[in-house]
Amino acid sequence: MWVYEKRLQFPVNIKETNAKLAQAIISQYGGPDGESGAAMRYLSQRYSVKNSRVAGILTDIGTEELGHGEMVCAIIYQLTRNLSMEEIEKSGFDKYYVDHTLGIWPQAAGGVPFNACEFQVKGDPITDLYEDMAAEQKARTTYENLLRLAKDSPDVCEVLKFLRTREIVHFQRFGESLRMVQDDLDSKNFYAFNPDFDRSAPCVDPKPGCNKD
Ligand SMILES: [Fe+2]
Repeated sequence: MWVYEKRLQFPVNIKETNAKLAQAIISQYGGPDGESGAAMRYLSQRYSVKNSRVAGILTDIGTEELGHGEMVCAIIYQLTRNLSMEEIEKSGFDKYYVDHTLGIWPQAAGGVPFNACEFQVKGDPITDLYEDMAAEQKARTTYENLLRLAKDSPDVCEVLKFLRTREIVHFQRFGESLRMVQDDLDSKNFYAFNPDFDRSAPCVDPKPGCNKD
C-alpha cells in the first residue's frame, strides 16, 4: 500500500504561463519515455524478481516516478492555468484544448496518447533491468531536450534539472541491481537465460531428456 504525502518531491512555482512549453513537457507525463510509463514499468516488473533487494529498489523507484508524474502535472497545470482563448489559439494549444480544455491528460508531445506498449515486463530480471537502464537514459535525454526548449523560463528549468538528476541516480541504482541479479546466477548461465524459468525448456539445454525435472 502507499501513504500519500501532500507535497511535491521538489517545489513547482511557475510565475508565467506558457502553453507552447506545456505541450512539450506533457511528453514526460504520457510520452514514450515519460514518468507514467516509468512508474508502471517498475511497479509491474517487481513481481517476477526473486532478489528481494532488487524488488525493493523497483518498488522505491516506481513510487518515486509516480511522484515525478505529479510534478510534471503541476508544471503543465501552472503553465496553462487561466489561459485566454487568444493565447490558446496563438500557441497551438487549440488542438489539445478542443479535447481536454485545460485538464491534464497523458499524451506525448506529438499528441500520441499514453500507451502501455511503451514499456515491457518480460519476467526475466536481467532483460527487464537492461530495459530499465535504457529507459532512464532516454528519460534523461528527454529532460535535456526540454531544458533547451525551456531556457528562457528559469522557474521551469529548476524543476526539470531536478528531474533529470533523478534519472541519473535511477540509472545507477538499476546498474547496481543488475549486478546483484547477475551475482545470484550460476556463472555457467551468465547472460544466457533465466534459470528459474528456463530450467525445463529443451531449447536451452542440449542434453536429451533435460526437460524432465
Ligand atoms: Fe527515473
